[in-house]
Amino acid sequence: LYVIHIAAEMAPVAKVGGLGDVVSGLCKALQKKGHLAEIILPKYDCIQYDRIRDFRALDVVIESYFDGQSFKNKIYVGTIEGLPVYFIEPHHPDKFFWRGKFYGEHDDFRRFSYFSRAALEFLLQAGKKPDIIHCHDWQTAFVAPLYWDVYAPKGLNSARICFTCHNFEYQGTAPASHLESCGLDAHHLNRPDRMQDNSAHDRVNSVKGGVVFSNIVTTVSPTYAQEVRTAEGGHGLHSTLSTHSKKFLGILNGIDTDAWNPATDTFLEVQYNANDLQGKAQNKEALRRDLGLSSADVRRPLLGCITRLVPQKGVHLIRHAIYRTLELGGQFVLLGSSPVPHIQREFEGIANNFQNHDHARLILKYDESLSHVIYAASDMFIIPSIFEPCGLTQMISMRYGAIPIVRKTGGLNDSVFDVDDDTVPSQFQNGFTFLNADEPGINGALDRAFNLYMNNPEIWQQLVRKDMNMDFSWDTSAAQYEDIYSMSVARARATKK
Ligand code: ADP
Ligand code: GLC
Repeated sequence: LYVIHIAAEMAPVAKVGGLGDVVSGLCKALQKKGHLAEIILPKYDCIQYDRIRDFRALDVVIESYFDGQSFKNKIYVGTIEGLPVYFIEPHHPDKFFWRGKFYGEHDDFRRFSYFSRAALEFLLQAGKKPDIIHCHDWQTAFVAPLYWDVYAPKGLNSARICFTCHNFEYQGTAPASHLESCGLDAHHLNRPDRMQDNSAHDRVNSVKGGVVFSNIVTTVSPTYAQEVRTAEGGHGLHSTLSTHSKKFLGILNGIDTDAWNPATDTFLEVQYNANDLQGKAQNKEALRRDLGLSSADVRRPLLGCITRLVPQKGVHLIRHAIYRTLELGGQFVLLGSSPVPHIQREFEGIANNFQNHDHARLILKYDESLSHVIYAASDMFIIPSIFEPCGLTQMISMRYGAIPIVRKTGGLNDSVFDVDDDTVPSQFQNGFTFLNADEPGINGALDRAFNLYMNNPEIWQQLVRKDMNMDFSWDTSAAQYEDIYSMSVARARATKK
């Protein structure tokens, strides 16, 4: 198969959260299975292009439509993680991707509807004939209606469209007329069965467009796929998802086991594996030293938390977990930052309170290398999300031997199984889970984890080894994508005959 992903993120060069990891990880896995996978990204100014192999400008200029005019786009290409990646640089006076950041601009709807159109224009003009065009999240969900309404009639018609929504909280809505900028017909699309927002009827909704107009719609875990079909979990799109439920399914993400491998991880002071946990202990020591935490008690458990600090992640429970961990005699390290000013300020306050504390440290920034060191140093890892489409940090933490303590929701429910849950076969039991998003809920799981760690060190070590040996690679999930891609392509060929 020839698969082209059109996305707003790709790890490690353009990563805000898990979306970036998924685009790289899935494409690498598809390539390993013998498929041709390519990626198209915006040419953000905040990417380090000198770190991209064979990075160069192509000798073409692609003209694409926006606001009734034609704008030139320069196309660059490079190899990231062994994958061919194209970058689109619009020569538009609004300097869409010269903002020093990826998202969070007042004109994001314009920036990404422009990009979606320019990406399709590039495919058309370059004569590319993919079997699958795979778009992600609201930023590139425009690709689906653009493909069928504008580009298929122009002859870009070899492909089936797959849309993956990584988080239904972010839907990309705007007044209906804003669709016209990228050449979509607002009148035709602002209807309840098309792109009209389900609650604000004068607005259109990009994610809804992705759901309605794609051939395949996925989200990133089976449990989340169920949750979003309900009124409580669907962020207003449950009825749309029910209407389109035949083409909608949840596929659990994997992680890139080359990028996340404690045995080869060059960010770590000492590499280690499940048969040599001494190395893990040395990384814990190193992190304590570097952060100025007390090393007096080797056995004192270290709890890690690496996250975007947004309401979805259960910030009030994260805050509570810091204090509870200290009460229980543990140490807590948080790495995270928040796009929400009042949350960022609140955590800055907590970080200040703990800046000289022996047992807690909050580091409020995005730091890839430090994240690796924290996964390696932690004994336990906390994820008390209110909802979690998939979540990657529980899988990464297990690979590094940090036992996850998670709320039972979305992808956490599909990847973490409680050590005390007798209904789950023991080979799958790998962490601690709780259901109620409140202090007693999280306390129950924390207490049980501390109890096992303190009182049964041998069983704890067995659990660490078991988790490190679990398979969270992309192999299984990529095979599921391969199947749905192939089925969709076969169906299209059968109807053409
Ligand atoms: P989400 O995509 O909702 O943020 P995921 O669990 O899917 O959550 O993915 C988060 C990814 O971002 C993980 O790879 C995690 O290690 C990384 N990450 C989150 N916050 C930070 C941070 N402050 N510094 C470095 N990496 C981070
Ligand atoms: C989103 C979700 C997260 C998921 C990630 C990758 O950011 O919040 O749960 O793991 O996308 O699919």
